[in-house]
Amino acid sequence: MNTIQQQLPVNTILHGDCIQVMRELPANSADFILTDPPYLVNFRDRQGRTLQNDTNADWLRPAMREAFRVLKQNRLMLCFYGWPRAEKFLEAWREAGFRPVGHLIFRKSYTTKATEFLKYQHEQAYLLAKGRPAMTGAPLADVQRLHFTGNKLHPTQKAVMSLAPVIRAYSLPGDVVLDAFCGSGSTCAAALLTGRKYIGIELDVEYHRAASDRLLRVKERIARRSSPFPRPVHDACVPARVKAIHCSAL
Ligand SMILES: C[S@@+](CC[C@H](N)C(=O)[O-])C[C@H]1O[C@@H](n2cnc3c(N)ncnc32)[C@H](O)[C@@H]1O
Repeated sequence: MNTIQQQLPVNTILHGDCIQVMRELPANSADFILTDPPYLVNFRDRQGRTLQNDTNADWLRPAMREAFRVLKQNRLMLCFYGWPRAEKFLEAWREAGFRPVGHLIFRKSYTTKATEFLKYQHEQAYLLAKGRPAMTGAPLADVQRLHFTGNKLHPTQKAVMSLAPVIRAYSLPGDVVLDAFCGSGSTCAAALLTGRKYIGIELDVEYHRAASDRLLRVKERIARRSSPFPRPVHDACVPARVKAIHCSAL
């Protein structure tokens, strides 16, 4: 492990505003960022649940600047965004230094909202480069499937099994994956289950608790499956064989 990795709070869900929290992280330390920030659309689900920072964009530029600083040179970030605010997101990414290198559609088999024109059946994300990343494996299809989660832990919960292929495509086992808007910790769970390390950041105290508890369950499950004997769960490395663990139920 190099010195930068030693300074990193890996395999932890940090509580707080990601702008402040990322300022405490060393520059050039994350290998891949996979994040799902508020879409700036004043979201409210059927149960009345809302998201912090979904009605103002004050955080967007500073957060993307910090994400760029924390990401290693020649690495990638995949960032979900809300299509009605596409210009704001693109401005913030470009101003921070990111270069769009692709756009992904995550197709849903269900409708989340219907307008007079359309039934909403996809989410979208930009793939953004810092520098000139090199692809190590085969390119990922730019249409992926977004599995239904039931949103039990979070109103906009992404499926772990939909995020895992992205993490496998753009990082290597042992890499550090950062999610600065981690909600219920889906990215972090997918990172751990694919043999990566994670750093999650979440502002909302309830979702921070939900994510922390969830990641504990994931670690316990990995520990149980990795060894025939019960053993304490450590935050450090997770064996690569956890890749095989089926993650839909997490
Ligand atoms: C779209 S949700 C992420 C959901 C997540 N992908 C999941 O599967 O649970 C965005 C999250 O960002 C959090 N958030 C908003 N502003 C934040 C900030 N400045 N720092 C950290 N988290 C923030 C919200 O509380 C919300 O949980």
